[in-house]
Amino acid sequence: MEIENRFLNAGSSDIEVKHENRLRPKDFSEYIGQQRVVENVDLMVKSALKRKSAMDHVLLSGPPGLGKTSLAMIIADALGSDLHVISGPAIEKKGDLAAVLTNIKPTDVLFIDEIHRMHISVEEILYSAMEDFRLDILIGQGASARTMQIDLVPFTLIGATTRSGLLSNPLRDRFMAHLHFDYYQSEQLAQILHNNSIKMEIELTDEAKIEVARRSRGTPRIANRILRRVRDFALIEDTKIVELSHVEKGLKLLDIDNLGLDSMDRKILEVISSYYNNGPVGIEALSATLGEDKQTIEEVYEPFLLKEGLLIRTPRGRVLSEKAIEHIGN
Ligand SMILES: Nc1ncnc2c1ncn2[C@@H]1O[C@H](COP(=O)(O)OP(=O)(O)OP(=O)(O)O)[C@@H](O)[C@H]1O
Ligand SMILES: [Mg+2]
Repeated sequence: MEIENRFLNAGSSDIEVKHENRLRPKDFSEYIGQQRVVENVDLMVKSALKRKSAMDHVLLSGPPGLGKTSLAMIIADALGSDLHVISGPAIEKKGDLAAVLTNIKPTDVLFIDEIHRMHISVEEILYSAMEDFRLDILIGQGASARTMQIDLVPFTLIGATTRSGLLSNPLRDRFMAHLHFDYYQSEQLAQILHNNSIKMEIELTDEAKIEVARRSRGTPRIANRILRRVRDFALIEDTKIVELSHVEKGLKLLDIDNLGLDSMDRKILEVISSYYNNGPVGIEALSATLGEDKQTIEEVYEPFLLKEGLLIRTPRGRVLSEKAIEHIGN
């Protein structure tokens, strides 16, 4: 099975996926931050190992690029189990999911990415699978219809979602732990950048590190992407030491401003300002004006703009804050 990677703005090229895999933390010691999440997971893993049984099902939620997939890989590794990766919306038929479930070995981990986008008919298969390790399959139609039951081995489901609010209640209730990912602090991103610069055989000055961290939207995936670009600038100058000047050139090329906003973030703020007089504006109207999918705006862009206090959500729609008005004025 393939791991599906999504990036902000850019579509995922093979090269970027390879780069991402190379920089993935391999175990808990390399996994920086998200302390509460890691503590919970660590306890669950240890308990499962002691019980010699499957770990409890866990739901990981939070914005893209914060380390959900990486954590799932580390969990499976710590359990000494295989990881089966599927993407929720990619499974179209019940039979496809049933095939995956009947193929896993005891205590294996099934990772379902974007679980909130799974088709409801497929999702229903999961209810008994998660609760009783059993498949209930309806065969035939009308009066002759009957349910066939297939026993499954104990397994762990790790669901990942950028929008836990969109999960159906029956599915949500079957996860024993709900762990939410927060944006990373600059110091944590600086540590990740430090570790990854070693993997990439380059060195960042402290100033450079702090600047990349500060402008990475609290997101390790973005920090890594910026790191790659600034490395390029150092490389063409024949140096392995990345300095602030390289960072500034890299950020300019990536169109990332001094608040860490990219061109789409700024476009959202600008559209609300010029078309909607700073708001309020509903998500439907905003999506139509921007020509950008509603879900993408809500899942990828808005959380950071809200967190930075640039955008405010009111019952009548999104409104720009003073800070945002000032920022786009500049
Ligand atoms: N805690 C961390 N420590 C070190 N590096 C991290 C951490 N979290 C994420 N990364 C880096 O960020 C990259 C993206 O992380 P990952 O793919 O796990 O995010 P995700 O939450 O699954 O994103 P999406 O929701 O888009 O699937 C990883 O390849 C890794 O290099
Ligand atoms: Mg992922």
